[in-house]
Amino acid sequence: MKIILVNGSPHEKGCTYTALSEVAQTLNKQDIKVEFFQLGSKPLSGCLGCGTCQETGKCFMKDLVNEFMEKAEEADGFVFGSPVHFASAAGNLTSFMDRVFFANMGSGILEYKPSAAVVSCRRGGATATFDRLNKYFTISNMPVVSSQYWNLVHGNTPEEVRKDLEGMQTMRTLGNNMAWLLKSIKAGKALGIQYPEKETRIFTNFIR
Ligand SMILES: Cc1cc2nc3c(=O)[nH]c(=O)nc-3n(C[C@H](O)[C@H](O)[C@H](O)COP(=O)(O)O)c2cc1C
Repeated sequence: MKIILVNGSPHEKGCTYTALSEVAQTLNKQDIKVEFFQLGSKPLSGCLGCGTCQETGKCFMKDLVNEFMEKAEEADGFVFGSPVHFASAAGNLTSFMDRVFFANMGSGILEYKPSAAVVSCRRGGATATFDRLNKYFTISNMPVVSSQYWNLVHGNTPEEVRKDLEGMQTMRTLGNNMAWLLKSIKAGKALGIQYPEKETRIFTNFIR
């Protein structure tokens, strides 16, 4: 089983990475493979709403989004990490996730795969960012993995994040909870438990 950890920070080895690494190490101890997916520091376009992905399951722009979608097909779950930027998620990450999750509405490859958000901030805006990220999962039929506290760490440097002992413990608990859920889903599949039946989707725009 494999989890992809998306680092939505431009800092490859910064605070968000430090939090994600704690989750990753815990998953490794539970025999779950991990792969980091770095968004890096290059600009990333937001969604243009052209609808191509609804037909093809892929974005017409050839960049990190399609790269991720290919990897996501093989993965069993995801952790999306973001630094807090002005009390919300980093712009590059929301551009990325808007496109990934809109494409998923066409392809459904993320559905029923457990997911979690992880947030790093210096001081404020962490829970607003956490809410923002969880909204992607909860509109996509994805089980959300929780921890003993909201999945946050505090710090302006990796060293400061490592000193946030409660935050780091929250990350380890998240890793263990993710591993438990993945193993439970695997056991359920082996027993023949099927994915839920879906109704034909009703899509209204508040027009009667
Ligand atoms: C543009 C920008 C905006 C920020 N806004 C906030 C904020 O609203 N609240 C906060 O606590 N920290 C804020 N920070 C600090 C970062 O969230 C914090 O240092 C974070 O841990 C950095 O994670 P990283 O090293 O993974 O990028 C901001 C940083 C930047 C660059």
